[in-house]
Amino acid sequence: MTVSTSVPILTADDVLAHFKALRSRQPVNYWAFYSSQLGGIVTDPALMVIPFDDHMVHRGHGIFDTAGLVDGKIYDLEAHLDRFLLSAERSKLRLPGSREEMRDIVVRTTAASGRRDGSIRYWLSSGPGSLELTPAAGAEPGFFVMVFGGLSYPERWYTEGLKVMTTTYPIKAPLYAITKATNYLPNVLMQMEARSKGFDNGVFIDADGSVGESSNMNVAFVSADGVLAHPKFDHILAGCTSLRLMELARALKDRGLITGVEVRDIPVADARASREMLLLGSSVKVAPVIQWDAQVIGDGKPGPVARALLRLLDEDMRSSDRLIAVPY
Ligand SMILES: Cc1ncc(COP(=O)(O)O)c(C=O)c1O
Repeated sequence: MTVSTSVPILTADDVLAHFKALRSRQPVNYWAFYSSQLGGIVTDPALMVIPFDDHMVHRGHGIFDTAGLVDGKIYDLEAHLDRFLLSAERSKLRLPGSREEMRDIVVRTTAASGRRDGSIRYWLSSGPGSLELTPAAGAEPGFFVMVFGGLSYPERWYTEGLKVMTTTYPIKAPLYAITKATNYLPNVLMQMEARSKGFDNGVFIDADGSVGESSNMNVAFVSADGVLAHPKFDHILAGCTSLRLMELARALKDRGLITGVEVRDIPVADARASREMLLLGSSVKVAPVIQWDAQVIGDGKPGPVARALLRLLDEDMRSSDRLIAVPY
């Protein structure tokens, strides 16, 4: 923030210049942005803006989802759109158009980016028009799509494994955890807390003492008897990656790497005695955890199930029937 003796009143040209200056001080990997409020797509990050009074900004009344872009194809968009629509319904957000129209805009914005690898995030907002809580009279729902570089994690997470801590922050109440709303305050605080204490990420524990999820990732385990166990999805986000991996993991049973797949409550004590602990998500894919608080997981090295699941997911992201080719 610039502190000066006078605070200027800006013209539209000044505003644009300031947004451009902001982006040159802090370059970003944002390649294309669609906004229903702009009525089109922009590729200059200085123009990727939303009105301040949109209720997504000042009340968190908005939802989002993210799909991956791999080698010019969008992966598993239908599953992400299913969850997006469920989140919209739970948040009582009006849709700006049909599912088909929104899918089409996602695909066209991706094409406009010209990029073949990255992430596509899209939001639905309750729209501008007041600083109240409930949507303003006549508020038009906003739909936004950002094609960007995606989140990246250190290579050592995959080669050496990562360390997580039990967060001191309370897990979201189930309704808020199963809804992908823009309020990620507990998730943000958990990640900041973990990093400040020398860990890579945090884990939420539920009120019954069972494992919840991580900041923007699910958590799964390979039990001492070889079962791939995942917490139930009734109080955590139903990760598209987790759901898909639970299906793909059947191949690992045939190969003798696991004895089965179970979605169940996982008490912390059982979880800590696991052979392997995994973080799963669209951005992290499959990453092995080798330490949880003071407890070393398994033999303290990335395990075979983590490696095999990552390979299965990578293959699925390149060659399954869940890909939409982008018409560049
Ligand atoms: C809180 C939370 N849990 C889990 C996940 C994993 O979901 P997905 O596999 O769909 O990326 C995410 C990411 O979207 C998340 O934000």
